[in-house]
Amino acid sequence: MSGVNKNIVILISGSGSNMAAIVKAAQQHHWREQFGARVVAVISNKADAKGLVFAREQGMATAVVDHKAFDSREAFDAELMFAIDRHAPDLVVLAGFMRILTPGFVAHYAGRIINIHPSLLPAFPGLHTHQRAIDMGCQFAGATVHQVTSELDHGDILAQAVVPVLPSDTAQTLAERVLTQEHLIYPRAVERLLAAWS
Ligand code: GAR
Repeated sequence: MSGVNKNIVILISGSGSNMAAIVKAAQQHHWREQFGARVVAVISNKADAKGLVFAREQGMATAVVDHKAFDSREAFDAELMFAIDRHAPDLVVLAGFMRILTPGFVAHYAGRIINIHPSLLPAFPGLHTHQRAIDMGCQFAGATVHQVTSELDHGDILAQAVVPVLPSDTAQTLAERVLTQEHLIYPRAVERLLAAWS
């Protein structure tokens, strides 16, 4: 941790609604005054990620590291680390960042990198979580905030939210119900970490 200031870097790949929820919580709950914490940069592996527009509107630093420009995961992760470390992060927040990270990348940020996954882990790591929950006949689904380890969608659980699976649900309607809860639990989980570090 860099002295009293805590820099948060958020990684996104798409709409960035979790990132926006965290940025809004930081403003509304005065993270800067309370914890010396601020979101310093939003980085995406996709130039057209919608969330970048919001981040720029907020006046935050943004960067794009396009995974397609690299011929190995290691090379991409090295460049991504370079882009992240420019901002001296105390916390790296994966918010819909849809890349599998190398063990070296995860080790570099050990203890200061977290993720949100749209299932009740340890159920349904990986992709298509909502359809898989429906197909299994799950009566409940949800989301999990967890520490990132080199094992995909694994690591200590920091927060979870549970929603019912309704008989009429499609993957889309279930995803929307879960996402609403993600917007509540992710900022809260970040805030709890900042409070614990203060
Ligand atoms: C969220 O549902 C998040 O849990 C999921 O992607 C969505 C991103 O939405 N993440 C994963 O599936 C990671 N494996 P957002 O860009 O609007 O925050």
